[in-house]
Amino acid sequence: MNIAQLLDIELPIIQAPMAGVQAGALAAAVSGAGALGSLPCALLTPEAMTKELALIRSLTDKPFNVNFFCHAEPPPDAAREAAWRRELAPYYEELGIDADKIPTGPGRAPFSAAAADALEPFRPAVVSFHFGLPSRELVERVKGWGSKVIACATTLDEARWLEERGVDAIVAQGVEAGGHRGNFLSADLTTQAGTFALVPQVARAVRVPVIAAGGIADARGVAAAMELGAAGVQVGTAYLLCAEATTSVVHRAALKSEAARHTALTNLFTGRPARGIVNRVIRERGPINPRAPEFPLATGAMAPLRARAEAQGSGDFSPLWSGQNASGCREVPAAELTRQLAQGV
Ligand SMILES: Cc1cc2nc3c(=O)[nH]c(=O)nc-3n(C[C@H](O)[C@H](O)[C@H](O)COP(=O)(O)O)c2cc1C
Repeated sequence: MNIAQLLDIELPIIQAPMAGVQAGALAAAVSGAGALGSLPCALLTPEAMTKELALIRSLTDKPFNVNFFCHAEPPPDAAREAAWRRELAPYYEELGIDADKIPTGPGRAPFSAAAADALEPFRPAVVSFHFGLPSRELVERVKGWGSKVIACATTLDEARWLEERGVDAIVAQGVEAGGHRGNFLSADLTTQAGTFALVPQVARAVRVPVIAAGGIADARGVAAAMELGAAGVQVGTAYLLCAEATTSVVHRAALKSEAARHTALTNLFTGRPARGIVNRVIRERGPINPRAPEFPLATGAMAPLRARAEAQGSGDFSPLWSGQNASGCREVPAAELTRQLAQGV
C-alpha cells in the first residue's frame, strides 16, 4: 500500500516537518496541493501550536501531519555548561555579549500530556515523531482519537523496534538528510547509512509502509526512492526556499551559494547530530564536539551568538540546516514544487 492510500491523500509525498524554518503556512500549501504538509512543534508552546493548527484548518480541509520530538530531557549539568561557555567565551567577547546574562534552558520540548491536550481538539490525520516514540500511554491516546502514527528510523533495528510498537508507517531517514538525525537506539554515527542503502533493507524487514527521506530533491529522486521499495517520500531541504517557508535571510543565502555543497553532521547547536551547511563555528569548534552540552541544552549557549551575528547579516553561528542535496531548492510556491516532485510518482 502506498502512503497516499494509507493517509487518504492524492500524492505519496510528505513535506518534512522542519522546526525553525516553517509553520502552518507551508504545511497548508503542501496539503492543499494534494501531498501531506507537516507542522513541526519542537519549538512551539502548546499555545503557539494551537494558533498554527487553527491557521492550517482555515486554509485547507485536507489532511496534514503534526510532528514532535520525543527525547528524554537530560538533567542540568552546571559544570559541563560552564566549561562549554568558557570554550565559547572568545566569541562572546568578539560579539560583545555578556556571558553572565545568557539564560540556560531546554531549547526544545518533547511531546507531553500538555501537548496532547492542545492537539486533541484538532485530531490531525497524522502525528509523526522524531527520536523514537513517546510513552505507550501517549501513543495510545493519539491513536485513540484517530490519528495515524509515523516515526523515524535510521537503522534496521530502529525500524523493527517501531514496527513492534505499532506505528502505521516508518520514515527511513538516510544520512544525507538535513536537520537532526532521528537515531534513538544508538548514538554511534557509524550505524547511519545513506538512503540508497537504508530504504530497501528497511522495506524488506518490516511490513508497514516505508517512507524514504534524505537527499530526495526532484522528480527523479522520488521515482528512484519508490523503485527502492519506498511507499512514499519525505522531502525537506528542497522546500527551504519556498515562499511559505520562514527560512532566515542568512540561511536562504547559504542555500543558494557554493557553501551548500559543504554539509556536516554537527552537535554544536543543540547537542545532537544534525546536518547543516558548514560555517565558521562548525569549522572552528566542530563538527562534533564532545564538550557540547547534551541535547537540547546546547541550544542555550549558542543562541545569543546566533542572534547577534544574524543581526549583522552573518550566518557564522547559525544552524544552517540542509541535506547533502540542495540542488532541488526552488524559490517557488510550495504547491508548485510539490507538483514538480509528483511527476516522479
Ligand atoms: C531545516 C530542517 C529542519 C528539520 N526539522 C525537523 C523536525 O522538526 N522534525 C523532524 O522530524 N525532522 C526534521 N528534519 C528532518 C526531516 O524530517 C527529513 O528527515 C529531512 O529533511 C529529509 O532529508 P532532505 O532534507 O535531504 O530532504 C529537519 C530537516 C531540515 C532540513
